[in-house]
Amino acid sequence: MSFKENISLDDKKVILLGAGQIGSKVLDYINEFDTEVLIIDLEKPENIKDGNQFKNFDCTKLDNIATSFEKVMLGFGVPDLFINASYPKNSNWANCDFNNQNSLDTIENINFHLGSYTVLSKIICEKMKSEDVRGSVVLLNSIYGIVAQDEELYTDEKINMSMPYPVIKSGIGGLTRQLSSYYGKYGIRINSICSGGIKGKVSGSEADMDNSFAEKYLKKVPLRRMATTDDVANMVCFLGSDASSYVTGQNIPVDGGYSVI
Ligand SMILES: NC(=O)c1ccc[n+]([C@@H]2O[C@H](COP(=O)([O-])OP(=O)(O)OC[C@H]3O[C@@H](n4cnc5c(N)ncnc54)[C@H](O)[C@@H]3O)[C@@H](O)[C@H]2O)c1
Repeated sequence: MSFKENISLDDKKVILLGAGQIGSKVLDYINEFDTEVLIIDLEKPENIKDGNQFKNFDCTKLDNIATSFEKVMLGFGVPDLFINASYPKNSNWANCDFNNQNSLDTIENINFHLGSYTVLSKIICEKMKSEDVRGSVVLLNSIYGIVAQDEELYTDEKINMSMPYPVIKSGIGGLTRQLSSYYGKYGIRINSICSGGIKGKVSGSEADMDNSFAEKYLKKVPLRRMATTDDVANMVCFLGSDASSYVTGQNIPVDGGYSVI
């Protein structure tokens, strides 16, 4: 095999959960290949292509999450690549302030986000195992899954230091290790991407990032720029391809070096 063949996603069946800021860029990249794609989200993304399938799915409906996910997959089958780039949250997410937490919102958001990532990844891995698919699972994590939030960045800013977010993302790190430990013997790989802050919208909100926050943040980034959706989509495709065939259980920073200092 050549590197060009290894990095190709041709002939892969892909399920993408969440086609927002990051997921829609991932979708563009995947659509460069000859792939079969099922996108699942609350709303159909604008950049959906002819031949892509779309199903509506709400991963915060935890009561019947397993059966509704099975239903969504029915007819499409077991994917070679499952990408979870969703950002489930409740309506009070922006107020889940570290210094002023509402306990119920904190718990609900941990359940929505970490709970759905956990249950859905396990279902996919079991399906891959039962149909002998040596697949790849790629989960969207964050630098806050590997380092804590720095209070100084958030002081005098409109955005809050979050209570649930680092807990959720650290949990996704543990989920990645645990799944990879068990499913490795079936040739199934599970990795997460610890993305730094993306240029533009504040993660989890509709607001653009304030310059003052970005300036402080960038002082801590060796590459001195915010991440782009291309930076993250590149890593998603690498982890989904056979070019990463010996990589599993890793929570991989795509953060311009933020986490090394
Ligand atoms: N944007 C960043 O700066 C950044 C940085 C690090 C990590 N991340 C992580 O990357 C992932 C994607 O982030 P993003 O910036 O693309 O977010 P986004 O809000 O732009 O997109 C999230 C997508 O998830 C979908 N979604 C939300 N709730 C859902 C639900 N209940 N059921 C099904 N789909 C649902 C939305 O419709 C949307 O398409 C998240 O897990 C986030 O934590 C983002």
